[in-house]
Amino acid sequence: MILLAESKADTVHMTRYAVTGGAGFIGSNIVGDLVERGQEVIVIDDLSSGHMVNLEPYPEVTVKNASILDEDALDSAFDGVDTVFHLAASVGNKRSIDNPALDSKINVIGTINVLEACRKAGVRKIVTSSSAGIFGELHQIPISEDHPVEPDSPYGVSKLAAEKLCLAYAKLYDIEAIALRYFNVFGPNQRFDAYGNVIPIFVFKMLGGEPITIFGDGEQTRDFISVVDVVQANIKASETKCLSGAFNIASGTRITINDLVARLSELVPGHHKVSYGSERPGDVRDSLADIAAARDAFGFEPSVTMADGLTDYVRWAMDEANRV
Ligand SMILES: NC(=O)c1ccc[n+]([C@@H]2O[C@H](COP(=O)([O-])OP(=O)(O)OC[C@H]3O[C@@H](n4cnc5c(N)ncnc54)[C@H](O)[C@@H]3O)[C@@H](O)[C@H]2O)c1
Repeated sequence: MILLAESKADTVHMTRYAVTGGAGFIGSNIVGDLVERGQEVIVIDDLSSGHMVNLEPYPEVTVKNASILDEDALDSAFDGVDTVFHLAASVGNKRSIDNPALDSKINVIGTINVLEACRKAGVRKIVTSSSAGIFGELHQIPISEDHPVEPDSPYGVSKLAAEKLCLAYAKLYDIEAIALRYFNVFGPNQRFDAYGNVIPIFVFKMLGGEPITIFGDGEQTRDFISVVDVVQANIKASETKCLSGAFNIASGTRITINDLVARLSELVPGHHKVSYGSERPGDVRDSLADIAAARDAFGFEPSVTMADGLTDYVRWAMDEANRV
């Protein structure tokens, strides 16, 4: 028997989850956590930047190899789903500058498709992955949610549009929407690629005996967060009832790139060659998030230290380098 909820507050908490982009770095970590909690999960992923190997430990998960641009695929995938974690995206500033139309198509039109499928299927909650890239040039740190949003790449614009679309649907329809604005996420299943983030680039280059280049003087700071804490944020946001809004998700601490390289040099075996290149135009000097809003709204509390997170990541990367 299906019980129909009369209001958001009374919604019956079913246990079917859909994860768009669930074969990717962050998505697969969310899938793993849900499976460990005994939940039923369906993944929708076109494998454009995700990898089936990330889901191999979870054979019980249904994987639909489809794009979020395919409305019929979304409609059938969301049937009976209670909560959607929306991660599928064209990810990164550089990728969006190389291909701005594709970026908007996937991140904006794709998000509308996901929201329409949620509306039709009666999904209770969508937790969407947003980005600190929406802020653009930083005027002051720590960065709170009401910092001006002036994105400086098509990706920042499309992620902002996606987040606003989710929040608009929460106002229009009987769905709750939470946008989580991640800062620099790192952890297992994060691979090195042309559009990659600094930690995988440094670690995989070090493992391959290649030199690494620090752009600028290395004293620029970044707020890195372990994917374990990003998963925690997604789960807690999904479990909090009657809440919609946009929240920063970060560690609330920062380290310099020089400090990061020093820590990685100790963790990755070998002698590492480090050089300095010219500062990249558009790179922000300092980044640090104010995470008080997520803490207050749904009890988000980062729990993984930089030392533990990097140790775990290097262990995973060494296994991965041996695997391929
Ligand atoms: N990694 C970070 O530091 C970071 C920071 C801020 C925001 N985010 C956001 O987090 C989310 C996940 O990012 P990630 O780092 O895990 O990247 P990822 O590239 O590993 O994951 C994205 C996933 O989406 C899938 N995908 C892409 N286009 C698709 C489409 N049209 N249809 C279906 N699936 C599609 C890819 O195959 C991949 O599995 C993204 O929304 C990204 O914008 C990530």
